[in-house]
Amino acid sequence: MFTIGILASGKGTNLQAIIDYIKEENLPIRVGVVISDNEDAFALERARKEGIKAICIPCEKYKTILGKEVEKKYVSILKENKVDLVCLAGFMRVLKTTFIKSFPNRIINIHPSLLPAFPGLEAWKQALEYGVKFTGCTVHFVNEGIDAGPIILQAVVPVLPDDTPETLHKRIQEKEHIIYPLAIKLISEGRVSIVGRKVYIK
Ligand code: GRF
Repeated sequence: MFTIGILASGKGTNLQAIIDYIKEENLPIRVGVVISDNEDAFALERARKEGIKAICIPCEKYKTILGKEVEKKYVSILKENKVDLVCLAGFMRVLKTTFIKSFPNRIINIHPSLLPAFPGLEAWKQALEYGVKFTGCTVHFVNEGIDAGPIILQAVVPVLPDDTPETLHKRIQEKEHIIYPLAIKLISEGRVSIVGRKVYIK
């Protein structure tokens, strides 16, 4: 069984989409553990409802980067749970090199824009303000940069003339819920390889 660990700070709609897809497709994948930095994250509640181990490891307030000790805890819980792949799903902290090196090419993230456009926070707002006609979402491997690792899958979403940040984000999320579970499935099947910056899917 391929085991994933999910890190989430917020509402957890991607976490839910992953859980639902695994069930619907009857995939040999299990969510071994869900960890959050935020004890009020609805993602934790969703996990518990599904009978999945859900843990809060609080981080220093107002710091985007995980502190050394906190980072150790995250890594050791993921290792204890024999996680094959770490999936960031709305996790609002930046992972440092030591964390990334503990899971080489085994950490992925979903970002709400067509990277490399609009990395960072509220990417849908950035896209709207910039005036692009198309945006979307990206599943990528995590490296030391911010939203900068090799790209696995992307989906395009048109920006409509009367879009608000909310309507655009909602349509982007609908696509996230399709490509994120799919990327996890492809990786679990050993069909994804990285050569330099390029990701090949068999
Ligand atoms: C998503 O928009 C994702 O792209 C970004 O954080 C958000 C998480 O949403 N990284 P949810 O908590 O999965 O609903």
